[in-house]
This record gives sequence, C-alpha cells and structure tokens, in this order.
Amino acid sequence: MKGRFYAVTGAASGIGQAVVVRLAELGAAGIAISDVNTVGLEATKALCTGFKTRTIAQKVDVSKYDQVQQWIQYTIDEFGRLDGAANVAGIAGGTGNTTCATMKDSDWDAMISINLTGVMHCMRAQIPHLPTPGGAIVNVSSTSGLRGLPHNAAYSSSKFGVIGLTESAAGEFGSKGIRINAILPGPIDTAIFRDGEKKGLFDSGAISATTLLGRMGKADEVAKVLCFLLSDDASYVTGGMLVYHILIYPKTLRINH
Ligand SMILES: NC(=O)c1ccc[n+]([C@@H]2O[C@H](COP(=O)([O-])OP(=O)(O)OC[C@H]3O[C@@H](n4cnc5c(N)ncnc54)[C@H](O)[C@@H]3O)[C@@H](O)[C@H]2O)c1
Repeated sequence: MKGRFYAVTGAASGIGQAVVVRLAELGAAGIAISDVNTVGLEATKALCTGFKTRTIAQKVDVSKYDQVQQWIQYTIDEFGRLDGAANVAGIAGGTGNTTCATMKDSDWDAMISINLTGVMHCMRAQIPHLPTPGGAIVNVSSTSGLRGLPHNAAYSSSKFGVIGLTESAAGEFGSKGIRINAILPGPIDTAIFRDGEKKGLFDSGAISATTLLGRMGKADEVAKVLCFLLSDDASYVTGGMLVYHILIYPKTLRINH
C-alpha cells in the first residue's frame, strides 16, 4: 500500500473506519474518506494522525450519484491518482415483523439505493480512474448475501446484489488488470449490529454461538482481510468472495416466525 491512494466509503465508523486506519498503518500515501456522518469522519481523521498518510474527508451519500462523482473527482484533483477503493457504506436492520407480504416501498427503496445502487455508483465513478493494470476494489456484502434472512429481505437482497455486481464488474475489467472482489462479513461488533440488537432484532450472544469461532468479529479483523484483497498479495484474486461462514442464521433472530 506504500505510496498509493485509496477511497473508502462508510469511513466514519465500524469496518470502514478500521479499513482507513489499516491503510494508514500499511503506509498509504493518501486516503479519501467519505460518509454521511461528518462527526465520525473527523474521528477517523484523528485516528490517522501519527501516520504519514494524508486523509481528505467529504460528506457523501452513496445513493446520490452526483455526490459520489464529485467526491471521486475531488480525490483525483487532490491526489492526482486513485489506486484502489473500499466500498463499505451500508445500512441494515429489518423492521420487526416485516415480511415480503408487508414490505413498504420506502423501506425497500432506502435499503437498495444505499447498499446496492450505492456500490454501483461508487464503481462507476472509481473504475475510470484506476490504473490498468493494478487497480483494485473491494465491495462489502454480507453472509446475508448468500443466504436469505427472514424479516430482512431488503437487506439480504441488497447484499446478494452486491455479489452479482462485483462478479459482473470483475469480468468486465479483469482483462485490463483491475481486480474487484467482495467480502462477506459475519456478525461484526459495530454500530450497525448493536443498533439492530437495541431494536430487538438480534441477540449477539445467540449469534456468536452460531459462528464457527464462537464469537463476533471485530472491525479490524475484517479490515486486515479487506486490505489484503486490495493489496498486490492478492494479485491473482478477482471476482472472488471472502466469506465469514456462520451456521444456522435464522434461528438466531428474536422474531416470531
Ligand atoms: N457489522 C456486521 O455485523 C456486518 C455484517 C455483514 C456486513 N456488514 C456490512 O459492513 C458495512 C459496514 O458496516 P459496519 O458494520 O461497519 O456498520 P457501521 O454502522 O459502523 O458503518 C456503516 C457506515 O455507513 C455509513 N452510511 C450509511 N448510509 C450511508 C450513505 N447513504 N452514504 C454514505 N455512508 C453511509 C454510516 O454513516 C456508517 O458510518 C455495511 O455495508 C454492512 O452492511 C456488517
């Protein structure tokens, strides 16, 4: 990562913030960080002081293409190049007992526009600037992108979509030497997860018991693997999915079926 420039969405907290810190630790020359949460972005910038990395922060809603496009143009204007990107921003949370028979268009649209269309917006803006060969993107999906999650159909569908988008883009740009992969975290102890728990949607103890390692993951444990996929050590990995396997997901939900 030394001397290279990256763009990270969802950088104000959790996995995105941990990715930024990891890139700084690994010697990235510059990181363009974005999120809708500007207070969190300042906290992420502060975590990077002491490293030789220049961070530039911008408020960006990934569901709005004009904002994403302006952010990436600003990144190029400031850094002069972009070597890779981590598209991490996302929202989660079902709405209690919502089913596919009671889904509101507004809930569906909000989830898809951020988690799925947001990733498409990012890749559309980022790919034209990446070096050929050598550019790399990692998109964050979820274990719910491989297995449907009752009462969370919009979330699960958005994460299935991220895998399709990633594989399609990898096929389009592999011949140019741009690698595009997806990472599918299991339960990771971040705000998105704890917020769901507060709403009564999850039980972290029960979910931990369904993981192969018997515990929730930490954001930096995902960040290290994500940065491996961004690095040249993963030079022959594209269109791939790095999956944090879990066991029987639906049984861990606290919802009446
Ligand atoms: N924590 C988990 O258990 C888990 C598991 C699987 C996948 N994921 C995925 O990991 C990614 C990161 O989540 P996290 O666990 O770090 O949670 P988090 O809530 O800490 O981070 C998500 C970030 O995305 C930002 N965000 C939300 N909407 C946005 C928008 N419209 N535009 C730009 N930024 C926006 C939030 O402000 C927040 O900073 C998400 O895509 C999530 O779906 C998380």
